[in-house]
Amino acid sequence: MAISFLLDGARIDLDAIDPTGSVLDFLRTHLGRTGTKEGCAEGDCGACTVLVGTLVGEAVQWRALNSCIQFLPMLHGKALLTVESLSREGGPNALQACMAGNGSSQCGFCTPGFVMSLYGRAIGARGSELPLGDVLAGNLCRCTGYGPILDAGRAVPSLPRDDAAVAEALAEIEAAPASGEWEGRRWFAPRRADELARLLADYPDATLVAGATDVGLWVTKGLKRIETVIFIGDIAELGEIEEREDALVLGANVRHAEAHDVLARLHPDLGELWRRFAALQVRNAGTIGGNIANGSPIGDGPPALIALGAELVLRSIEGRRTLPLEDYFVDYGQQDRRPGEFVESVRVPRPAKQAVIHVAKLSRRFDSDISAVCGAFMLHVEDGVIVFARAAFGGMAGTPRRAPACEAALTGQRFTMATMDAAARALHADFTPLDDVRGSAAYRLEAAGNLLRRMWLREQGTAISVQDLEALDG
Ligand SMILES: Cc1cc2nc3c(=O)[nH]c(=O)nc-3n(C[C@H](O)[C@H](O)[C@H](O)COP(=O)(O)OP(=O)(O)OC[C@H]3O[C@@H](n4cnc5c(N)ncnc54)[C@H](O)[C@@H]3O)c2cc1C
Ligand code: FES
Ligand code: FES
Repeated sequence: MAISFLLDGARIDLDAIDPTGSVLDFLRTHLGRTGTKEGCAEGDCGACTVLVGTLVGEAVQWRALNSCIQFLPMLHGKALLTVESLSREGGPNALQACMAGNGSSQCGFCTPGFVMSLYGRAIGARGSELPLGDVLAGNLCRCTGYGPILDAGRAVPSLPRDDAAVAEALAEIEAAPASGEWEGRRWFAPRRADELARLLADYPDATLVAGATDVGLWVTKGLKRIETVIFIGDIAELGEIEEREDALVLGANVRHAEAHDVLARLHPDLGELWRRFAALQVRNAGTIGGNIANGSPIGDGPPALIALGAELVLRSIEGRRTLPLEDYFVDYGQQDRRPGEFVESVRVPRPAKQAVIHVAKLSRRFDSDISAVCGAFMLHVEDGVIVFARAAFGGMAGTPRRAPACEAALTGQRFTMATMDAAARALHADFTPLDDVRGSAAYRLEAAGNLLRRMWLREQGTAISVQDLEALDG
């Protein structure tokens, strides 16, 4: 059998499957479950939200995911709930009744997604502790607004659910590796890192898929045919988090939802950056390793991790090698990843207690948007003099990069606004950014410099916080 999963608690075994067919397509065209909608097919709108459960210890942990960019083999060993599941469980439940009653079932496209996100919150799915607005940031409505939807979420904050039978059934299927072939294309879903190393030695050109929040779009939007796929997202060893005294070690498979919590403890700016990383459905799937390996010049993780001096561990069948994270990004679309290697982990040193850290993301839309510019700085200031500086940016070049001229303009200077002005001017030597839909070159240079100035203002206690700005925005 190629894959096994549970739908409404009942086991489904599938023999031959298209490895890059989406869960959404499968639901709609093979199972006739058309309640789950396709709005954008790129993880942006939430119309396709489903809940996917995994066994954690003896309990089922549910996550809201965008089914449009989840590939079918990624369901192997998991449990699935769609909007139809709620009716089969004796619905409409209290949440659905409330939404129908207060007029928040506004249109047929978005409502199933809103129901699933709110239902996930009500049953304690990953992220349900977040403010309601954050839980719904990945569900878009463009008709009347969010007021009644938020009211429904507030009115029904929790619903009882007994998953004992689901947990028992998951225990039977979750650990087995899977593989298959479809129209000459091969796919594998190993469960151990050494199996992955062996597979990559045999298939060095294989595409790795962790959370599929980047690769999913290559297929749905780029119509790419991928010949060999290795699904790595369920290799538990790669999902470990180690909070050491000197460093935080994040396995490549750590989802952004989990990374948020530990990084927020390292520094509040990191928590804020990861809170604004896409939306919950994407953070529930996307991984730290995928964000780095993808090598996007506007990926949000790398600038912050580079500023903190992170190191990347790459592994292959031959062993491991470690490099400063900034050295991994060679050029636009080119990373220092040799054939047979995969990203195993990233090691983030704990910053010194007195370090001044400032991380900021500027995007056109506040929630669920990719950066136009992302800046991250770490300074050591002694007796008013900057004795050490690291500055890294995203959105300013073909790769996430340090800013050597800016760092030189900071180091050895007094920590003053005049020094920030000089460091901002030095950015012109570091970067020749592009004009694109997210921002013009001139905007990017100006904004990047202003992030330095903002760091200084914040240290003086005179900068307005992002939270204050949000509050002003209503
Ligand atoms: C709606 C939406 C919003 C988004 N918003 C943001 C945002 O705000 N900020 C941001 O930075 N990104 C954003 N992204 C991009 C994406 O979510 C992140 O880059 C995510 O971290 C990718 O992780 P993944 O596990 O899904 O990667 P995948 O899609 O599975 O893989 C991405 C790439 O990494 C490779 N890869 C994955 N794991 C490994 C590994 N262990 N070793 C080697 N190669 C590997 C894959 O082969 C592929 O090339 C967004 C995406 C979507 C769809
Ligand atoms: S269809 Fe829009 S997020 Fe999936
Ligand atoms: S609920 Fe669909 S656009 Fe508003």
